[in-house]
Amino acid sequence: MNRMAIVGSLWGDEGKGKVVNYFSDKYEWVVRFSGGSNAGHTIYYNEKKYVNHLLPCIKPNNDSKSFLGAGMVIDLEQLVSELEDYEKEFKGYGSRVYIDPEAFLVLPWHKEEDGFLEDMRREPIGTTKRGIGPAYTDKSSREGIKLYHLFDKETLKERLLDNYHLKKNKYNEKFSLSADEMLYYLLNLKDKLLNLKVNFTSAIDMVSIFRNTSVLFEGAQGVLLDLDFGTYPFVTSGSCMAHGVSSVGFSTFELDNVMAVLKAYTTRVGAGPFPTEEEGELAEKIRQKGNEFGATTGRPRRVGWMDLPALRYAKIRSGYTDFVMTKADVLNGFEKIKVCTAYKCGDEIIEVPSTSFDFFRAEPIYEELPGWEDTHSINFLKYITYIEEKIGIPIDYISYGPKTYEMESKSDMIMNLK
Ligand code: IMP
Repeated sequence: MNRMAIVGSLWGDEGKGKVVNYFSDKYEWVVRFSGGSNAGHTIYYNEKKYVNHLLPCIKPNNDSKSFLGAGMVIDLEQLVSELEDYEKEFKGYGSRVYIDPEAFLVLPWHKEEDGFLEDMRREPIGTTKRGIGPAYTDKSSREGIKLYHLFDKETLKERLLDNYHLKKNKYNEKFSLSADEMLYYLLNLKDKLLNLKVNFTSAIDMVSIFRNTSVLFEGAQGVLLDLDFGTYPFVTSGSCMAHGVSSVGFSTFELDNVMAVLKAYTTRVGAGPFPTEEEGELAEKIRQKGNEFGATTGRPRRVGWMDLPALRYAKIRSGYTDFVMTKADVLNGFEKIKVCTAYKCGDEIIEVPSTSFDFFRAEPIYEELPGWEDTHSINFLKYITYIEEKIGIPIDYISYGPKTYEMESKSDMIMNLK
């Protein structure tokens, strides 16, 4: 059976939404397995732009189905809003969406806490303020609310009362909803989801279906934002790695491939180390040309060059098998392109960081490659061949624009070389 996971290669925003959307036709199911509405996965359908924060990036009109896995933290208000928008244009969309009742919820309290914590930190992380950290914190401290709690009003009420009590004591802050108000807020959203004909079905009940059909797994953010292996503490609070598919009952050994989405240059939003970061005119040129502004928060993204040590590290941690390169067109017309080949960390030169702490003291060592006119120029082929050789995995596809169809295989690109 055809099974592929798509993950972000570095700090997210590489264009996973578009890449998932491109391949989604070939799969019966598209499964989001981690993160929450901190993600902003952009797709185009009939020239219209849609930004999915929670829903998987299927083509909205076709028969493929979506599954939101238990590794996610789900903001129901956001989910209802995305579903209502799709339902207006694509009747029956909701009935093709399945959610694992084992998933945890992001509550309005979590979003408020996200803000309180950022204000209290000496050095803010620059979170998306979507409540992701506090929701995952409640999950690990055993105070979280799961989707299935919505189907047992008494248990939900008890858990909300406990939760509210703890939060008020912890922050000494006024939250906008009381426990009672939160109860009705959540029950109302549950009714909306039921009206939208969304299916509440656990991965346990789906696994025999998944095992007999084709599944595309859609990751969120990127490996260097992973809670365990990213540039801690400047990370998100969930898993950004392919092994997140375990929350849907799969092992990575059951995947045909793990496709990492790799931008032709590097970006990151929020604070934290970024060894190849550029500032000034050049960064601004790439930012404007690449429209590098966050899909969730609108914040300008930090911009820099291709970073091979970071890719080597992320490849080992997440186990990539292939790359798709996105935004190659943004670098068209540059005379020279810089690529970071190694880091200087103190007195040492390293090609692969041993721990995520190395990113904090890394000084980039660059090589310069000639630029290209467009992605059918020989110099562009040299650029991708260089990266393939240095990282040891192929770049199978090249994306050269935001629309889903603006992508071609490397072999097609080579056939059309000028
Ligand atoms: P949080 O996930 O909102 O807690 O944010 C933690 C860090 O991850 C911040 O630096 C965010 O900017 C970053 N982050 C979260 N989601 C995304 C994403 O989808 N793309 C890129 N960066 C993200």
